[in-house]
Amino acid sequence: MTTDALVLDAAAQDLLFREARTANTFTDEPVTEEQVQAIYDLVKYGPTAFNQQPLRVVLVRSTEGRERLVQHLADGNKAKTAAAPLVAILAADNEFHEELPSQFPHFPQAKDVFFAERSVREHSAALNGALQAAYFIIGVRAAGLAAGPMTGYDAEGINKEFFGDGEHSVLAVVNIGKPGDDAWFPRSPRLEYDQVVTTV
Ligand SMILES: Cc1cc2nc3c(=O)[nH]c(=O)nc-3n(C[C@H](O)[C@H](O)[C@H](O)COP(=O)(O)O)c2cc1C
Repeated sequence: MTTDALVLDAAAQDLLFREARTANTFTDEPVTEEQVQAIYDLVKYGPTAFNQQPLRVVLVRSTEGRERLVQHLADGNKAKTAAAPLVAILAADNEFHEELPSQFPHFPQAKDVFFAERSVREHSAALNGALQAAYFIIGVRAAGLAAGPMTGYDAEGINKEFFGDGEHSVLAVVNIGKPGDDAWFPRSPRLEYDQVVTTV
């Protein structure tokens, strides 16, 4: 269904949403550094509270890195992650407040006024990091690639393996590439507008 209410052209609507799918298989075509940089340079403009930008990304390219990651994944996620052209570990930096004086310059005191407590930072980083993860997935689609996001893993295991500092919390692992053979399950339904939206 297309509508005049959206200004984005119909092809872009399809690319980003209607025809975009969660891929479970991929071709061998590599995902380049240039593509990942273009994705980040687009989605970095997605909004976060206090412009806090807690998202951190680890690109897993080496065989050794792939093995270190796959051991922490749920069994059903192992094979497709081992075979994907690129895997990104998306994590929230719970010490994001250190960057606030430079990233929120019109109110640099936010670092201490709002984010002195770790528990507050963790809560905020989880929400805003998840938003940025969503922007990232849409950015992958904007590059003509498919994403396969996953949260079926041992989060503590990944945190220790890739972020030994205790300051990061994994948000999602995302397989990235061109979709391969038989790449997705049948499209599942979506809740309709009236099931989701109320007006007061
Ligand atoms: C945050 C998140 C976590 C997910 N975790 C897994 C997972 O661990 N394993 C898996 O096979 N699919 C996982 N999925 C895939 C979803 O089931 C899929 O995106 C959803 O059913 C929509 O599919 P579609 O994009 O093809 O319509 C995850 C998706 C998201 C966004």
